Amino acid sequence: MAQIFHPSTNTISRISIFGGLLGVVILIGLLLGIQRSAWNTGRDVVVTQPIQFSHKHHVGDDGIDCRYCHTTVETSAFAGVPPTKTCMNCHSQLYADSPYLEPVRESFRSGQPLIWNRVHRVADYVYFNHSIHVNKGIGCESCHGRVDQMPLVRRVASLQMEWCINCHRNPIPNLRPQSEIFTMGWQPPANQQEEGEKLAREYHIRPPMAITSCSTCHR
Ligand code: HEC
Ligand code: HEC
Ligand code: HEC
Ligand code: HEC
Ligand code: HEC
Repeated sequence: MAQIFHPSTNTISRISIFGGLLGVVILIGLLLGIQRSAWNTGRDVVVTQPIQFSHKHHVGDDGIDCRYCHTTVETSAFAGVPPTKTCMNCHSQLYADSPYLEPVRESFRSGQPLIWNRVHRVADYVYFNHSIHVNKGIGCESCHGRVDQMPLVRRVASLQMEWCINCHRNPIPNLRPQSEIFTMGWQPPANQQEEGEKLAREYHIRPPMAITSCSTCHR
């Protein structure tokens, strides 16, 4: 009986099967890449603001502490953005005639708050809390990057679930002593693994199982 398929079709079918599989793998890789890309997550995008407020000047050059403006970061879920009054503590005298500061003076005169546009925002169905992180040894820099070098704040983290969970699985490399929470450019010591484990005990950090359960962040 004549063969319906010539033997060479075996090779062709193998190539097409493996080729197809490879194609699928590449496609998935590509989609995951896009899903995590800055383009999709809005990372590194500069947000326009009513005033060109520079963290580089105020924090990097003038050394003003984060808590001077973000007053509730240690005590509540929200870090908080400063009211106009906080700016006027200095700018009623300093650069009092600067045209760049006119919107601040206008807001102070009229009592209308400045509307700052958000740079970071997690979805409504996600629970996030600043005070717990700050009090358990996670520095601002671990999530917000070198804010002291940013003329305008950019978001350096994706804020995707994967990003949160990666740290919750193993926070040890990121744990700092309380004295370094607000420090920018902190270098972990050479024995960070050991120091981190010590801090984890001190802060009573629960095992990964407990802080990666869905109800930690979806309540
Ligand atoms: C002199 C006041 C001042 C100081 C000091 C200051 N900030 Fe800010 N910060 C602001 C203002 C005003 C905004 C809102 C405008 C903006 O986003 O740039 C802001 C915004 C931010 C944002 C983005 C908020 C958002 O919309 O998601 C982050 C993150 C931030 N600050 C971190 C820090 C850190 C970390 C420090 C200390 C190293 C610090 N800030 C010190 C005034 C200050
Ligand atoms: C603790 C004092 C202090 C506070 C509070 C403060 N600033 Fe400043 N600001 C300064 C100093 C000092 C400079 C000069 C910075 C430099 O060039 O290094 C400055 C510069 C500026 C400039 C640039 C002015 C120019 O003409 O170049 C702007 C804009 C500004 N601040 C906005 C703000 C806003 C908005 C707030 C409130 C969220 C604020 N500042 C709070 C001390 C302060
Ligand atoms: C574990 C990561 C993490 C750490 C540590 C952290 N932040 Fe944030 N920050 C976030 C996230 C996530 C948001 C967005 C929160 C939201 O949408 O409710 C945010 C938002 C903010 C905002 C916008 C206003 C607000 O309250 O939502 C400011 C300002 C801010 N952070 C400042 C700080 C400062 C200052 C520190 C250090 C003392 C700090 N953050 C530490 C993750 C972090
Ligand atoms: C760099 C590390 C790090 C990142 C990033 C991080 N976390 Fe955390 N988170 C911690 C640590 C450490 C704790 C303290 C755990 C404990 O107390 O056992 C914590 C605690 C929490 C808690 C409190 C849990 C409870 O039951 O009291 C919530 C909620 C939380 N994180 C949400 C988030 C969300 C949402 C994100 C992402 C937007 C995030 N975290 C990103 C390190 C991190
Ligand atoms: C450490 C915090 C954290 C934990 C734990 C966590 N999630 Fe999430 N989850 C997030 C954040 C943050 C987002 C928002 C992602 C975004 O906006 O891209 C999210 C988004 C989601 C979404 C929306 C789809 C998506 O991926 O964007 C689903 C569904 C979800 N989570 C399910 C779960 C389940 C199921 C678990 C338990 C296995 C879980 N999450 C545990 C932080 C967490």
